[in-house]
Amino acid sequence: MAMGINGIITVPGDKSISHRSIIFGAMSNGVTTVNNFLNSADCQTTIKAFQAMGVKIEKHENQVVIHGNGHLSKPINTLNMGNSGTTTRLIMGLLSSQPFKANLVGDESLSRRPMSRVAEPLRLMNADIQTSETGTLPVDVNGKQLNGINYELPIPSAQVKSAIILAALNAKNKTTIIEPTLSRDHTERMLKLFSPKSIQKIDNSIIITPHCDIKAQTLIVPGDISSAAFWMVAATIIPNSNLIIKSVGLNPTRMGLVKVMQRMGANIQIINFKDTVEPTADLVVKSAQLNPISLNKEEVPALIDEAPLLALLAARADGISELHYLKELRFKESDRIKTVVEEFKKLGINIKELDDGFLIHGNRNWQLQNSHLDSHNDHRIAMTLKIASQLFNSDIFIENADCVDISYPNFFQDLKSLRS
Ligand code: S3P
Repeated sequence: MAMGINGIITVPGDKSISHRSIIFGAMSNGVTTVNNFLNSADCQTTIKAFQAMGVKIEKHENQVVIHGNGHLSKPINTLNMGNSGTTTRLIMGLLSSQPFKANLVGDESLSRRPMSRVAEPLRLMNADIQTSETGTLPVDVNGKQLNGINYELPIPSAQVKSAIILAALNAKNKTTIIEPTLSRDHTERMLKLFSPKSIQKIDNSIIITPHCDIKAQTLIVPGDISSAAFWMVAATIIPNSNLIIKSVGLNPTRMGLVKVMQRMGANIQIINFKDTVEPTADLVVKSAQLNPISLNKEEVPALIDEAPLLALLAARADGISELHYLKELRFKESDRIKTVVEEFKKLGINIKELDDGFLIHGNRNWQLQNSHLDSHNDHRIAMTLKIASQLFNSDIFIENADCVDISYPNFFQDLKSLRS
């Protein structure tokens, strides 16, 4: 019988929260210490951008110390956003009100991703932002005095919401953001901690009061649920598994995969729950046979980064899953609808591309068609394919698999230790 995934694992710090800790640390006055910071390529991009704007940031192994002095300086060179959509979009909001001009560029993948979704609401605040003709990087931001706005988010995007919040903190008057569908709320929680008077939440509205004090903090970043998700799925679909994942961030706006997996019949227990600013718990996951699934629109933002894994679960379940409302996947590090379909077919999975998702005929009898897979330089695709390849006895090669550095540099070492 196949060897399962067994043992105890601690996943690295949350990427979204690590980015935000640098931003708020840099905006505050004083020394912010961030423990369990995610030391990955994307988070390094954020650190470097703020260092280039005159903020002293010290890096220790898993700890970052930010010496905020309440202001940013004009960067001498173009700011390179690498592969990081979160850095780019949040920084666009922050730069909109600074007394200088800055230019942003990124790698090939990031340069294909839409930036108008951020530029447009910021322009309503009087921001001066130039994107390329297609609404992508390179982007020039010429800082201006901003006005507060009342804005209803047309898409549930935490990056757009956060860019507006960061801009609003320096505007002339209050801003109200209406969020018809909830997206991850790490910016709001962290702002409440650094500057309680700045933010108020009433139902689905976020009200930002500008020019309040932002005070340095000491933080512990919880384990990234989007990284834990690879082990949750591995332990579920690989027979004879029994895994404990320690100290995972269980913010309700990130729990979509856990909920959908439980609906599919997965065996996931939540223990040692701690209700802090960002709640955490340990997860106990055992192998299980799964039922097919459908999604409702409202639950998608809470699992958007886990959608490739959800497709993998559906491919292993007994029956047909039609997954809709996933159009946003087309705007991630790769077009994840296309890349998942292309690569899953090589594994013998019966999957069809839909405009906004996947049609999957799940079963457990996959016949390998091609053992040369491609990550398409997308970290989450690389890791999803690596988990899927655990279900075969043959060697499977993944092109450009080292892109896992973007969010989970030790992914392959962790897999090895769980498999030994
Ligand atoms: C993120 C928000 C999400 C998510 C991304 C990280 C964030 O993107 O997919 O990986 O940290 O705010 P959108 O805001 O585009 O939905």
